[in-house]
Amino acid sequence: MSGNNTLTITDNRTGKTYEVPIADGTIRANDLRQIKTDAQDFGLMSYDPAFLNTASCRSAITYIDGDNGVLQYRGYPIEQLAEESNFLEVAYLLLEGELPNKAQYEAWTADINVHTFLHENVRKFMDGFRYDAHPMSQLISTIGALSSFYPEAKDISSHAQRYSHIVRMIAKMPTIAAWSHRHSIGFPLIYPDPELSYAGNFLSMIKRITEDEYTPHPVLDRALDVLFILHADHEQNCSTSTMRVVGSSNVDPYSAVSAAAAALYGPLHGGANEAVLRMLKEIGSKDRVPQVIKEVKAGERLLMGFGHRVYKSYDPRAKTIKKLADQVFDVTGKNPLLDIALELERIALEDDYFVKRKLYPNVDFYSGLIYEAMKFPTAMFTVLFAIPRVAGWLAQWNELVEDKEQKIARPRQIYTGPALRNYVAMDKR
Ligand code: CMC
Repeated sequence: MSGNNTLTITDNRTGKTYEVPIADGTIRANDLRQIKTDAQDFGLMSYDPAFLNTASCRSAITYIDGDNGVLQYRGYPIEQLAEESNFLEVAYLLLEGELPNKAQYEAWTADINVHTFLHENVRKFMDGFRYDAHPMSQLISTIGALSSFYPEAKDISSHAQRYSHIVRMIAKMPTIAAWSHRHSIGFPLIYPDPELSYAGNFLSMIKRITEDEYTPHPVLDRALDVLFILHADHEQNCSTSTMRVVGSSNVDPYSAVSAAAAALYGPLHGGANEAVLRMLKEIGSKDRVPQVIKEVKAGERLLMGFGHRVYKSYDPRAKTIKKLADQVFDVTGKNPLLDIALELERIALEDDYFVKRKLYPNVDFYSGLIYEAMKFPTAMFTVLFAIPRVAGWLAQWNELVEDKEQKIARPRQIYTGPALRNYVAMDKR
């Protein structure tokens, strides 16, 4: 083999030279295994904790250019989708690869609408949670429990089965999410209203008390739908990688989505929107911002809602959310925490610490302010992230299942423990 699309490696331990192919800007980690010091040597591995520089799959779903703040779903810019599309159309796009025509869109939304209800035993199951259970814990557990309601979902090789459970999960997420909230505040559970939009139906199940019919405010209905579009997918982040790793064992999709939702719950990932609000409330007033920035620079705390593994410029989702916030605040009144957030952003973007590290506001910095203005409790913020992300997780899972190159995920390790030693009886230790 020789040519431009190769990498020549000289192993200075042995003086031997190897040539490995380069394709799509990558080398195959397995090609390093031929590099050995002797026949007994296992072969060279790459060490990449937290997968900073490892492509784990080929994917045709979401494209990010982190340096230039670009995000596209199936090639369509996120800004256009947020302006022109709606969440269910975007979910179809992520899953099927193309925007639906009218007939496809109608069939898709009809399929979603008929599956929004939950089995009554799910209701009883949720009733068992402690009165103050965090909605995200309820969501994770309830999605996992759905696996026991649909044992046929194990047949992941069947395209028809996969489609039917993808539809169920996208349809049922708002119902589980709303019920987890109503349970945590002790309110009666509201059943889905298929006459409403996807976001509107969710708002109805969250807000409705005694009304026969609930009509969501059109601006808030649309704002929530746009937030759902912005959160629908983000390629191989922590929860999506979890979806793929767990899915690679061929487990049913309910179990895999439950695992992905658990990954999302963490404060460094989807839990950051909740952490941002707690931080803004704790800061309390604009004049405390310089002190907070000082603490961040001293390494005493993180500025939640700032920084991203991939974006090294302004997160394009944060830009759209900032604009959306103005429309929502026109209806709800301005969130008083906005001034603190704007001041934090202003000072941080001018400060050398943040400039050098390319730390910009991410999707979670402003979304919480909108959620709070819409009167969602802080504990619901990550749930609001999880509802639309299910579409992305399932699109990525579908792609994984059909990808002939994929196998069960199984990284290697560098063993750092003791060398072989003999067991010592307890009275001799
Ligand atoms: N505040 C202060 N310093 C930070 C921050 C922050 N939010 N984020 C990164 N840094 C510093 C970090 O200390 C490090 O400094 P140094 O080089 O001196 O050690 C440098 O910037 C590089 O950071 P890193 O930790 O190597 O970056 P990472 O890619 O491992 O982490 C991150 C990415 C998002 C976990 C991190 O930026 C963070 O913890 N941000 C706060 C939590 C947050 O907002 N998460 C939401 C992410 S976007 C939505 C999502 O994924 O769900």
